[in-house]
Amino acid sequence: MSGPLLVLVGPMGVGKSTVGQLLAERLDAGYRDTDDDIVAEQGRAISDIFVEEGEAAFRAIEKQAVRRALSEHRGVLALGGGAILDADTRALLAGQRVVYLSMDVEEAVKRTGLNAARPLLAVNPRKQWRELMEARRHLYEEVATVVVPTDGRTPEEVAQAALDAV
Ligand code: S3P
Repeated sequence: MSGPLLVLVGPMGVGKSTVGQLLAERLDAGYRDTDDDIVAEQGRAISDIFVEEGEAAFRAIEKQAVRRALSEHRGVLALGGGAILDADTRALLAGQRVVYLSMDVEEAVKRTGLNAARPLLAVNPRKQWRELMEARRHLYEEVATVVVPTDGRTPEEVAQAALDAV
């Protein structure tokens, strides 16, 4: 199978980068994150792209970043939390080993709270989280080959559960 060893998907704040780096260490592989690729390529913060160009433009940029990372990277790859909203991006994940890190709404509110760096959660985080999870859960499940719940688990425990599951 070509492409990364593992692709991590799941909502923002679920721990994709922390767990992803642990997994990369354990697998003796590199770690890559499409959010970081986008910031490096665009020379601006993701929140600035949202404000200046809107979410649709961001998703188009993100799709190209995912495409490139899937073809170039052979280690652990984490995608931005909303990457799965794009049907083309979901199609790119077919045949990959995709780990969905899941959490429930209360865990999400607890972990992220109000975070200005996360433009989708600017107001009323609990309501936003509920809507966001309802809209996205089935899409994460659609692309996932494995689901790893993270509620009440440390990053080390989540990484171990992911390794046991794949
Ligand atoms: C987003 C998640 C973020 C980032 C952007 C949009 C989302 O990534 O791509 O702010 O729509 O859920 P993380 O999941 O890495 O925070």
